Amino acid sequence: MQDYRRLRFAEGYASTDPAFARALPFRDTTGRNVAIWRLRARHYMVMRAGLALLTNVHRVLDVGAGNGWLARRLAARYRVTALDVDATDTGLAALDDSRVGRIRGELEALPVRDGTFDVVIVAAALHYAVHLSRALSEIARVLRAGGVLIISDSPFYSDALARHRAWQRTLAYYQAAGVAHLAGRYQGLTRAELDGPGLFRFVTLSPGYEPLRAALGRWRGREAGPRMPVVFGWKR
Ligand SMILES: C[S@@+](CC[C@H](N)C(=O)[O-])C[C@H]1O[C@@H](n2cnc3c(N)ncnc32)[C@H](O)[C@@H]1O
Repeated sequence: MQDYRRLRFAEGYASTDPAFARALPFRDTTGRNVAIWRLRARHYMVMRAGLALLTNVHRVLDVGAGNGWLARRLAARYRVTALDVDATDTGLAALDDSRVGRIRGELEALPVRDGTFDVVIVAAALHYAVHLSRALSEIARVLRAGGVLIISDSPFYSDALARHRAWQRTLAYYQAAGVAHLAGRYQGLTRAELDGPGLFRFVTLSPGYEPLRAALGRWRGREAGPRMPVVFGWKR
């Protein structure tokens, strides 16, 4: 946690300024990751639009909630609980909103009763699962029958090989930052892996020009980078 926290500050993804979390995703007060937050703001709008179309949504669990910017925004309309392993000021302690419940916990062992939530959102966090199938089955367990999982801002690769090559770049990046061991807790996703356990019926929404850019890259012979789709999954 200490190393991850240090890295988040170094990368500009954490700030001790309370205004940081409140302004997200529409404004990055650090000014360090403006383009990424612009993309994330679009994804947030897609999630909100999708959520608004779902019926009988009251209780929402935000898994890997971080500083809780998303949980806070959703709390205007839903009964929201934020869950994260990080209870410090980069995580749940930054969430000063009495409308939002907070749980410290692991995404692969959710300390939550079966069938508690109508929707589980995992924003920029599912790729931290060491055992994806375990995380998916935990999410399915805490969702009610017909509940919906929303995944956003996790890197998706076309196949396991592309994902492995990307992971090697991640490892090199973490090694250079002196935190190589964190690479074991960060790996991109593949659609096949999501579908594998058969727990959800997934529908991918890909906003913006990202798929077009990926297609253009492939046409120019470049290795396809990750896509960051917003994915809705109905519990089977
Ligand atoms: C990139 S941040 C995303 C935070 C927030 N959801 C957002 O959209 O900005 C990833 C979050 O996942 C949390 N996390 C990583 N591994 C986790 C795990 N095994 N269980 C629960 N949370 C985890 C981290 O503490 C961090 O807050």
